Amino acid sequence: MPIVIEKLTYTYQSGSVNAFTALHEIDLTINDGEFVGLIGHTGSGKSTLIQQLNGLMQPTSGIVKVDGYDMSDKKQRAKGRALVGMVFQYPDYQLFDETVYKDISFGPKNMKLDAEEVDRRVREAMRLVGLDFDEFAEKSPFELSGGEKRRTALAGIIAMYPKYLVLDEPMAGLDPAGRRAVLKMIDDFRKQLGCAVVMVSHSMDDIAKTADKVVVLRDGKIYTSGTPEEIFSRADELYEMGLEPPFAARLASELKRRGFVLPDGIYTNAALADALDAYKGGLGNV
Ligand SMILES: Nc1ncnc2c1ncn2[C@@H]1O[C@H](COP(=O)(O)OP(=O)(O)O)[C@@H](O)[C@H]1O
Ligand SMILES: [Mg+2]
Repeated sequence: MPIVIEKLTYTYQSGSVNAFTALHEIDLTINDGEFVGLIGHTGSGKSTLIQQLNGLMQPTSGIVKVDGYDMSDKKQRAKGRALVGMVFQYPDYQLFDETVYKDISFGPKNMKLDAEEVDRRVREAMRLVGLDFDEFAEKSPFELSGGEKRRTALAGIIAMYPKYLVLDEPMAGLDPAGRRAVLKMIDDFRKQLGCAVVMVSHSMDDIAKTADKVVVLRDGKIYTSGTPEEIFSRADELYEMGLEPPFAARLASELKRRGFVLPDGIYTNAALADALDAYKGGLGNV
């Protein structure tokens, strides 16, 4: 069963003079096992939208249902929320316990798993996020580097085996090697446990590499959604919204402007390299 969002509208400080409607009539479905990339300019409503998925905020109007559980209903919300693992933009807000081990085990313990299973999950989650158990288990989360904090926050969520893993800019502030590592981790985890992923990212390249479906938010509305190929071939519209298309899409459009005859819909480095290979072959045959 999927997450189904219908005509979701959300207004901050509803009813006051400061009321601000951040989401307008959003319709969106997140299917089992799907990787959804959520993009949009700062302030477009991405963080507001994903906080509705685990019931941190409830719709002002409209419906959010997680596997059939209505997130506007208090009892059903608890059941829906148990299926959704949320990794926040700033890991500092998520980490609070004395040691990395205690922090990661907090969620699984709350699920009333027995001690042995909790321990197994903490070790597995630390392995999946690349934190060496002997080195990190007894460290304080506050002694960690930015990247290690992110890994710890992610481990605490994946140790609960969420059916839906929701991540708000999980690679923000990391260097390129850190970005690649965290992205790979998310993808590995998804493959291993078969969960769906909803990932907010500013990096179109990261979304291009991983997403099955791309959703573009603009001023609190879904501007468009589709496959990465459909979305990233509309480079001009992305530019106009202040978003930068993936590197390969930008280079392909520049090459076309200079007279290269390349197929449409190139947005990964591999696809561009293939197209240039074919081009080179064509030149050789002249
Ligand atoms: N607590 C709040 N009160 C009032 N307005 C808010 C609040 N949080 C966010 N907003 C506004 O809602 C809009 C969407 O914000 P947000 O969901 O954080 O966007 P994004 O994550 O895409 O940058 C922005 O205009 C923002 O200023
Ligand atoms: Mg945000």
